[in-house]
Amino acid sequence: MHLAIVGFGNQAKAWAMNLRDSSFPVKIALRKNSNSLSQVVTSKLDHLEIGSEDFYQSSFVALLIPDEEHDHFLKVHAPHFKSNTSIIYAHGFSLVKNSFFEKYPHLNHILFAPKTIGSELRNQYLQKGQLGAVYSLEHVNFAQNLLSDWIHQLAIALGINLGPYKTTFKNEMQADLFSEQAILCSLIPFVADHIFKKMIDNKIEPELAYLECWHELKLIINAMIEKGPQDFFNLISPNALIGAKKGQDILMNDELKKGLNSLFSDIQNEVFFQEIESRNIQEVRDELKSFWQKSPLQETHQKIKRGM
Ligand SMILES: NC(=O)c1ccc[n+]([C@@H]2O[C@H](COP(=O)([O-])OP(=O)(O)OC[C@H]3O[C@@H](n4cnc5c(N)ncnc54)[C@H](OP(=O)(O)O)[C@@H]3O)[C@@H](O)[C@H]2O)c1
Repeated sequence: MHLAIVGFGNQAKAWAMNLRDSSFPVKIALRKNSNSLSQVVTSKLDHLEIGSEDFYQSSFVALLIPDEEHDHFLKVHAPHFKSNTSIIYAHGFSLVKNSFFEKYPHLNHILFAPKTIGSELRNQYLQKGQLGAVYSLEHVNFAQNLLSDWIHQLAIALGINLGPYKTTFKNEMQADLFSEQAILCSLIPFVADHIFKKMIDNKIEPELAYLECWHELKLIINAMIEKGPQDFFNLISPNALIGAKKGQDILMNDELKKGLNSLFSDIQNEVFFQEIESRNIQEVRDELKSFWQKSPLQETHQKIKRGM
């Protein structure tokens, strides 16, 4: 039985190519006249048209389109799926926000969330690297055991080798949003940018500053993941050790902890849901694009990449 993947964006491309290469049956479901059709054909993947009879007959449907599209998509299509069709979500957010399990009780709602961006899901699969994922079967109506077996086969075919670990939609949503807001998409890039500017304002060559606070991030995180936090601190030099303690004492202050607490409680009490509703995604994207366009870190990144 094939998995119909809806969309051919960031996650969908990686899922589709990993599954294709693992000989897991997969078809890509696209809107009529979708711009992605030629890429799907070039990638030697089978395709379906969303809304066609074949599409509605699929037993497993992965909703790999933007979260804000899920509500409308299910309003239109959910009534046409047969009972016990399994809808797979790569993030818990839309189901928790819209209570889809109450609106569409004839469907199984399954969470399967690889813990990486799409490009790394593909890269790590090709390099046989480590890939983690979580899943939840809390909103399925029947055949828990069969669906659990299917999820584990899907995980292997996608290249998941950490887990998949069991969670709930709500926990995945909270953990995912909090890690993005608190460290992955905020503290790391914006603190790196600030430190980079500090260095070049103090006459440090941009190439050196780039290696210190951008490129070395990747290498040091590799060591942290490989060794674990405790052994990592045994690997670093005495200067780095004293510096790490000083940085911890000064930077991990009450203000930072207050900020982290506030981010988490806004997720928990769903204030963040309202913020998403009230923000214009394109405006935020443009604002950040313009921030990075003006950043000397971005300029140096481009120069170094061009010279490679
Ligand atoms: N970005 C990531 O790496 C990442 C990481 C972890 C989890 N996730 C989760 O994965 C899911 C997909 O996110 P994504 O960032 O991969 O999405 P995305 O790249 O923005 O998805 C774009 C694709 O969705 C299709 N699409 C958009 N609206 C549609 C609609 N109303 N009906 C049918 N197709 C539609 C587009 O179709 P056309 O080709 O026709 O334009 C396009 O192929 C989300 O639940 C997200 O939370 C994403």
